[in-house]
Amino acid sequence: MESSETRGSFTGRLGFIMAAAGSAIGLGNIWRFPYLADKYGGGAFLVTFIILALAVGLTLMITELAIGRYTGKSCIDAFQELSAKYRVIGWLGLITPAIIVPYYCVIGGWVTKYFVEYTVGNGSAAGADGGAFFNDFISGSLPGLFDNPMVWFLVFAAVTVAAVMMGVEKGVEMVSKILMPALIVILIVICIYILTLDNIASGLEHYLVPQPEDFSIKTVLGAIGQVFFSLSLASGTLITYGSYMKKDVHIPNSTKVVTLMSILTSFLAGLMIIPATVAFGMDTGEGGPGLMFVIMPQVFDAMPAGHIVAIAFFLLVIFAAVTSAISLTETVVSTLKDRFKMTRITASAACTVLIVALGTLVCLGFGALSGFTPFGRDVLSLFDNMSDDILMPFFALITCILVGHVFNTKAIIDEIGFCESKHGLCYADIYSFMIRYICPVCLFAVFVLGIVTTFGIFEI
Ligand code: TRP
Repeated sequence: MESSETRGSFTGRLGFIMAAAGSAIGLGNIWRFPYLADKYGGGAFLVTFIILALAVGLTLMITELAIGRYTGKSCIDAFQELSAKYRVIGWLGLITPAIIVPYYCVIGGWVTKYFVEYTVGNGSAAGADGGAFFNDFISGSLPGLFDNPMVWFLVFAAVTVAAVMMGVEKGVEMVSKILMPALIVILIVICIYILTLDNIASGLEHYLVPQPEDFSIKTVLGAIGQVFFSLSLASGTLITYGSYMKKDVHIPNSTKVVTLMSILTSFLAGLMIIPATVAFGMDTGEGGPGLMFVIMPQVFDAMPAGHIVAIAFFLLVIFAAVTSAISLTETVVSTLKDRFKMTRITASAACTVLIVALGTLVCLGFGALSGFTPFGRDVLSLFDNMSDDILMPFFALITCILVGHVFNTKAIIDEIGFCESKHGLCYADIYSFMIRYICPVCLFAVFVLGIVTTFGIFEI
């Protein structure tokens, strides 16, 4: 991904869709969505998430891609080009992914560990005692070197950074083309099995039927944060991707496909994990970030040929996670390159130092540093809240205000090209209303509430 004249581009509509889906579909869908849905009321969370993804998520995704393609630049320079005064906002496109990528690699390491455990035939140990293995593993209390979460975090981070150093975007496109559909297929297979379990009905109802008493401000906050995270929004990634997009690719239509694929993957991951949580007698809301690692081994243990399915499942999740981690790292590296005139190698080295330093803190947060809980959170939750509940809503809010009221709104709407589609309706007016009024109001509320809850100003 080179700057100006040598700037690469996606190979066309499918190329763009696969690259964007590779970025969007990842741990956010498979690990993060189910544990949040479990925590925030099952069906209530699912419905809120889908509505916000289609309304706010889609609007923002279209906007960010249009900014990128219109300016042909990555985040900081894109904002500079739109209006020099607002260049400083573009820096969030460096800071936010830089906060996310270290903990993303830590979770990627956990997935890699589970894949290896199943491959060497130790899978049942992972499923025994309802999650005891998981807690022993992440707290670093297992004795062997390969039982240390730091080792797996470093392996995952090394693969990601190596891929970015080699500049493999084209490779990502190809890998995504095969593996994303494969991931969806294996999720469907596991879901079908889940539906045959005894005692599944009440769990299914918990996941699929929203209960009025489960809706709260926290549901909405959690859901909007998840929309940002799982669609790779509000972090510069899609502005960079937009700058690689060819002019003849129709932004709204391609965006729709990516958003729907991502929602479908999240939905299936939730269907795979949440009803099983209830069927295996776990209290809902108790799982937290470990939910997938505690529930899935129990599912595989009960499933015929479960260990084979487990190997395929964890392998596909690794691929989904690596393609997303690459997109996060690439955002940081390309911004460093563009802004500080670094070479790809130097920028990747700087990014590695950052990932190792912050990722180590996250790993230790579950072990040696477990007593260190700033604002009542472990290190992973702190980084997650900072990016997802504060920086991303802020960036999204400012983007909407600038595009809707400050920049040349018409130029961006023209860039989006609502009316070019032969079959599509002309959605420009709806978009304009969303970006000017609905999104800013929602995002302002989310941003304020994010600060209030993160810093514990008062309990909601
Ligand atoms: N969307 C990815 C996932 O769901 C993670 C991701 C990739 C991301 N790029 C991002 C999250 C940019 C936020 C911002 O796993």
